[in-house]
Amino acid sequence: MILILDFGSQYTQLIARRVREARVYCEIHPYNLALEKIRALNPRGIILSGGPASLYESGAPDLDDAVLNLGCPVLGICYGMYVIAQHLGAHSAGAYAREYGSATMVIDQHDALFDGLEGREHQVWMSHGDRLEALPEALAAIAHSGNSPYAAVRTHEGRLRGIQFHPEVVHTPCGAQVLRNFVLKICSEPGDWTMAGFVATKLAEIRAQVGSDDRVLMGLSGGVDSSVAAALVHRAIGARLMCVFVDNGLLRAGERARMEETFAARLGIPLRIAEAADLFVERLAGVLDPEHKRRVIGHTFIDVFEREAAALGGARFLGQGTLYPDVIESVSFKGPSAVIKSHHNVGGLPERMRLQLIEPLRELFKDEVREVGRELGLGAEIVEREPFPGPGLAVRIVGEVTRERLELLRRADAVVMDEVARAGLGARLWQAFAVLLPLKTVGVMGDGRTYESVIAIRAVESQDGMTADWARLDAAFLARLSTRITNETRGVNRVVYDITSKPPGTIEWE
Ligand code: XMP
Repeated sequence: MILILDFGSQYTQLIARRVREARVYCEIHPYNLALEKIRALNPRGIILSGGPASLYESGAPDLDDAVLNLGCPVLGICYGMYVIAQHLGAHSAGAYAREYGSATMVIDQHDALFDGLEGREHQVWMSHGDRLEALPEALAAIAHSGNSPYAAVRTHEGRLRGIQFHPEVVHTPCGAQVLRNFVLKICSEPGDWTMAGFVATKLAEIRAQVGSDDRVLMGLSGGVDSSVAAALVHRAIGARLMCVFVDNGLLRAGERARMEETFAARLGIPLRIAEAADLFVERLAGVLDPEHKRRVIGHTFIDVFEREAAALGGARFLGQGTLYPDVIESVSFKGPSAVIKSHHNVGGLPERMRLQLIEPLRELFKDEVREVGRELGLGAEIVEREPFPGPGLAVRIVGEVTRERLELLRRADAVVMDEVARAGLGARLWQAFAVLLPLKTVGVMGDGRTYESVIAIRAVESQDGMTADWARLDAAFLARLSTRITNETRGVNRVVYDITSKPPGTIEWE
């Protein structure tokens, strides 16, 4: 495995993704992970991430010298490079040379890091405040850029390397190759981490954990993660997996039927449907604040789930579709990141019901989960589907959630889903959906004046949902949406398109 030590860069997860794309298993840990734990992981190579700190500040995060002397190759990225240089005796120059954006790197000396790159000049992405002013004896420059004489450096024997640029971002087109070279050529990883191998290992692990007669309970949300996790657990223990799907009345059109069709009919995984639409709508009456809504929905979900679990006769394990990004957030050296929105999950349930957790996907990224899903025979309608928030349409109805407003939004949203599918936009868009606004505007239809609701269309492109760009959709496509929504949704006379990226907006409106 490759160990990534996190100094707090916003891009650390991307480093891990690029390494995984080279079919090499890697894990992210905080930069100050104890030496004995690092030894126990027995990494074939270590990558030091970038970070927001300046090495010239007091108390800047630093490494134990021993980590650099474990014997395996080390690659420092940006801040990680300064850490290496400083351990090798670089003087703090203190010169502040901010550089942010594209730059041209010129390769001065051949190195395995640059294998397969054509020509000497390459576009790279820089994002740093400090700059190395002079190299210590032990380091030599192997590339430079306009603003930094030391765009890439290495020790003479070639075990420690540093690069000033960020190879993990898409703005460094040669970056994936550079990281691939590091893990495959320099660290000699075999590059054989595949999802088929992962599935085989996990099946054995789940069987060992659950034993021969215990049962596993899972709540399905309709999303990719819980669906794939359930399919995996089912493959491992068959009918001893019990799935509950809570119909909270906050689902998109056709969702429940899709779940029944996929799970019960196609995969042969029995699905217990909990009818809870009325309960959710009742409890949401008069709730306007987005965070309050989420809490009400979270608590109601737990109540319903507990009731259904009891009816099923109980279990010793609770299966969950936790992914690696959720795990990293809670171990990152920054600590759990600030709660921007309290995401709806079944937190608190395991302790309350005395259930042990089974989280077979907790080492995987979303794209890897999709691959596991395909490996398990799940169709595109599950594996490729867009993310959907646990609190459902409730966070897409700004203001109070009522049966009527849910119905209205569901109809408008069905038009969006239908048009996106017809136009084949699903693969390009991270999400596309309708939002119901809490206001009415004046319109004219037929010969009469109308005073009706406004629907906003939200369509974004994104790699991982953490940042997103509003989709530059074709005007004719938007026109079709607008016409169909106003024609087919009684109570709507105006459609607007949301042109806000994230940041500053979030993807969901609440
Ligand atoms: P935001 O709105 O924070 O959303 O930009 C980022 C991504 O997360 C999804 N999302 C949720 N997913 N429970 C979930 O499982 C939630 O409470 C929740 N809120 C937002 C959102 O759809 C987007 O893909």
